[in-house]
Amino acid sequence: MSKIKLLPPRLANQIAAGEVVERPASVIKEMLENSLDAGASRIDIDVENGGIKTMRIRDNGHGIERGDLALALSRHATSKIYVLDDLEAVGTLGFRGEALASVSSVSRLTLTSNAEDSAQGWSAKAEGQEMVAELVPAPHQQGTTVEVRDLFFNTPARRKFLRTEKTEFNRIEEVVKRLALANFDVTFELRHNQRTIHSLRSGTSEAEKNRRVAQICGPAFMENALVVDIERHGLRLWGWVALPTFSRSQADLQHFYVNGRAIKDKLVSHAVRKAYSDVLYHGRHPAFVLYLEIDPATVDVNVHPTKHEVRFRDGRTVHGFIYSSLHHALADIRPDDQLTTASSLASAAGLSDASSAGQDLPSAIIDQQSMPLAAQAALSPDGRFNNGAESVNYASQSFAPTAFSPVTFAPTNMETPQIREAMQFYGQAAGSSSQASSSAEDTPPLGYAIAQLKGIYILAENAQGLIVVDMHAAHERVVYERMKTAFEQGSVQAQPLLVPQTLAVSEKEVACAESHVEVFQQLGFVVEIAGPESVLIRQIPVSLKNANVEQLVRDVLSDIIQYGSSDRIKQHVNELLSTMACHGSVRANRQLTMPEMNALLRDMEATERSGQCNHGRPTWMHFSLAEIDKWFMRGQ
Ligand SMILES: Nc1ncnc2c1ncn2[C@@H]1O[C@H](COP(=O)(O)OP(=O)(O)OP(=O)(O)O)[C@@H](O)[C@H]1O
Ligand SMILES: [Mg+2]
Repeated sequence: MSKIKLLPPRLANQIAAGEVVERPASVIKEMLENSLDAGASRIDIDVENGGIKTMRIRDNGHGIERGDLALALSRHATSKIYVLDDLEAVGTLGFRGEALASVSSVSRLTLTSNAEDSAQGWSAKAEGQEMVAELVPAPHQQGTTVEVRDLFFNTPARRKFLRTEKTEFNRIEEVVKRLALANFDVTFELRHNQRTIHSLRSGTSEAEKNRRVAQICGPAFMENALVVDIERHGLRLWGWVALPTFSRSQADLQHFYVNGRAIKDKLVSHAVRKAYSDVLYHGRHPAFVLYLEIDPATVDVNVHPTKHEVRFRDGRTVHGFIYSSLHHALADIRPDDQLTTASSLASAAGLSDASSAGQDLPSAIIDQQSMPLAAQAALSPDGRFNNGAESVNYASQSFAPTAFSPVTFAPTNMETPQIREAMQFYGQAAGSSSQASSSAEDTPPLGYAIAQLKGIYILAENAQGLIVVDMHAAHERVVYERMKTAFEQGSVQAQPLLVPQTLAVSEKEVACAESHVEVFQQLGFVVEIAGPESVLIRQIPVSLKNANVEQLVRDVLSDIIQYGSSDRIKQHVNELLSTMACHGSVRANRQLTMPEMNALLRDMEATERSGQCNHGRPTWMHFSLAEIDKWFMRGQ
């Protein structure tokens, strides 16, 4: 007797459902995607008991013809692709022809639709099985309503994995937000137990887009976000990225879309993380809403049933493009931009001051307060770095004085020739402007120093109000950026190893090392091929003599293989420079003269990434006169 049997369709659908229907939120995702594919401009989502009891999704899209209703519910039935070529350049969110069949196999589903401009629609029911062919007339405007009740009523194993009503609803909310961020031209209404939770009106102007992003990601995100829009090699990256000081303790405010599809992709996360690497507080996560537009023929979206992943045909180009676009956007932030970003975006989004998170305190302060305790502990009350690990690290490194002469970077002594020059110039300017200080046009963005507070902070007055600068943090960044430039410009000092190190690697890595000999050389390494599965390190940069060179070379090889380039060595050197900059910068409790303070302010304005210290903490804060007036209830 034959042991192999064809699965009954219902069981086959239930197995397939295991891949896409994990919880109520996955049903909402599939149904919303169908509504969007149908060209809806308004979608109403009604949820009861976290979606476990009922989910109703109603749209005004093009609807389903009466004759197609039965097919829509069966497996492998789709109107979106017909031949393999269509899949190669698919422009719709769905294409597998499985979602409705899967959902209907694990719930009680009613599909009602009207494809015509009339008030009469048709309704089809399925209860955990192939649809019964019976259609009943049902009143319905043009569009479609899907009602899903009693999810997993016939698959108890799945039902056990459902969490509380609140948790399940939170996930639904996330799905709606994620899709709403990619479809500004669609109105979304989300209700839970008859209460409206989100009412997102459609709109495609800049102001309306800003409003939606602020509604979804919070006004504080908007106030701290930079707008990016970069186009190169047929790729476009646009959206909003938060300033590094607006970082999060979790990676929960990260939205990335490829041609309108929300994705989570390792290559993309790596590129973004790398772009933020030098400016983010340790252990914190960047916040962003970014859209990548790319020729659909060069991305494979058919990687996973949930379609959360994609595969780029030319991953290296995409990685490089995302990294360099964001890297430059972040490096280019100057105090001037930061001061204008917040106010212009917030007003464009129609946000009043009072609606911003934190009410009377600037959001950056709030966010800093929400930093992990361990991170806060690194700051002693006097503002010094109190990080034991760091000092130990510093003491244990024997820096090659020839490579980085401390004199060049003037640790604890700010008077380099440039600074002296700037001090003379600005010292006079500050002196002369201290009385008539608010002639707005010629006041630089960070203004002029008016005092030093407790030997830690510089207080300065600019055209809009008060600037408070963390002197050590700011100087640290200025010194660090200078050291990096010097390092990049000068040739790297290298030293041969007394005993060359042999490294056992894979054949692929040997080939990679062979084709990247020059890259290694530029970085001060001499790496030779020693055998089919081994390489020999003969020479290393002096600055890395105490580092774990073997591990570094391994990591670099694996980076090059995976992403086409590696920044490990540079990162490592940067870490060392950063530590040196930290220890070489002006300490708290050092009295600065007015010209010195002004020189530092001018340096900050001219330095890349000067909004954060090397550890990603903010270097300065701004309090507008309007904010200060509010403290004293002036003009209210
Ligand atoms: N809200 C809707 N409005 C109009 N047509 C719809 C709607 N929902 C489903 N359909 C029709 O039903 C078909 C089947 O939907 P289903 O979600 O099962 O598959 P799909 O969207 O084609 O692919 P995928 O499984 O990848 O989502 C769709 O191809 C579409 O023609
Ligand atoms: Mg679908």
